[in-house]
Amino acid sequence: TNKDRAKISLELTDFEGVSLVHFITDNWENIKNFKARPDDILIATHPKAGTTWVSYILDLLYFGNTSPERQTSLPIYLRVPFLEANFPETPSGEDLANKLATTPRIIKTHLPVQLVPKSFWEQNCRVVYVARNAKDSAVSYYHFDRMNMISAEPGDWNTYLQRFMDGKTMFGPWYNHVCGYWEKKQTYPNLHYMFFEDMVEDTGRQLEHLCSFLGLSTSTEERKRITKGVHFDAMKQNKMTNYSAVPVMDFKISPFMRKGKVGDWKNHFTVAQNEQFDKHYKEKMKSTTLQFRTQI
Ligand code: A3P
Repeated sequence: TNKDRAKISLELTDFEGVSLVHFITDNWENIKNFKARPDDILIATHPKAGTTWVSYILDLLYFGNTSPERQTSLPIYLRVPFLEANFPETPSGEDLANKLATTPRIIKTHLPVQLVPKSFWEQNCRVVYVARNAKDSAVSYYHFDRMNMISAEPGDWNTYLQRFMDGKTMFGPWYNHVCGYWEKKQTYPNLHYMFFEDMVEDTGRQLEHLCSFLGLSTSTEERKRITKGVHFDAMKQNKMTNYSAVPVMDFKISPFMRKGKVGDWKNHFTVAQNEQFDKHYKEKMKSTTLQFRTQI
C-alpha cells in the first residue's frame, strides 16, 4: 500500500493551464531558452503513449549499427534525454541534451505543444508525436504513478480517473495535449503524428512510415531486425530499455514494461465509469477531427 513505501509525493501546480511540478517550473528559463539544432529530432508525447518504444526505435535507426557499445551499456533515458526533467540528484534533461555528442540528437518531451521551446519550431526540427487512446493512457499512467516513487500520489483508481478527466495529472489535460499537436500538424509539415494502437497492430508498417518521414533508406532486412528488437517481450527483457536501472521505480508494485496492450482499460473501468468517461470525452473532443481506437 502507499504508506508502506518512501514515496516522495509531489504537489502538482497549475502552470499556464498545465499540471506540472515545481522541479520543472523552477528550471523554466533554461527550458524555454533551449537551443535546438536543425537536425534535432523531438519525440513528443503525453505520458504513457509509447515514448520509450519510439525512443528506442529512433535510437536503433540512427545508432543501431554505428555504436554497438551504446546498445549494451547506455540506458535509453540517457541516450534520449527528457528535456524538461529536473529532479533532485540527477542531471537535468536540458543539461544532458546539451552534452549529447551524437548527431542527430534525439530528445523527448511531455510538454504540450504550446510549451515546447520555440527554437524547435524556428529550426524546423522534425517532431514525432505519439498518441494513445485516453482510456489506456489513464490506466497505464495510474500504474506508473503507483510504482514511481517520485510522482504525485495516485490515490485509488476511481479518484485517479476523475483527476485524469479533470486534467489534473502531470502534463495534463490529455485532451488538449493530443489535440494541440494534431492542430499543429496542419501548419507544420515536419510533424509526424503516430498512434500507439497502430504500432501494436503493425510495428513494421509504422517503422516504414517513420523511415520515410525521417528520410532514411533503411533496408527491409534492417527494419525487420529493429521490429524484432523493439517487440514488447524483447524490450521487457532488455536492461537498457526496461528502466530496471532506475532506482525510483518499484517494479514489485508494477513494472515499467507492464502489458503493452490495447484495451487493458476494459479490465479497469466499471460500466458506470465508462459511461461517465464517454460522455465527458465526447464533450471535450467535440471540435476535433482526431479519432482514436480503444480496441484493435
Ligand atoms: P502499459 O502500462 O499499458 O503496459 P511511455 O514509454 O510513454 O511511458 O509508455 C509506457 C507504455 O508503453 C506502457 O504501457 C508500456 O508497457 C508500453 N510499451 C513500451 N514499450 C512497448 C512495446 N515495445 N510494445 C508495446 N507496448 C510498449
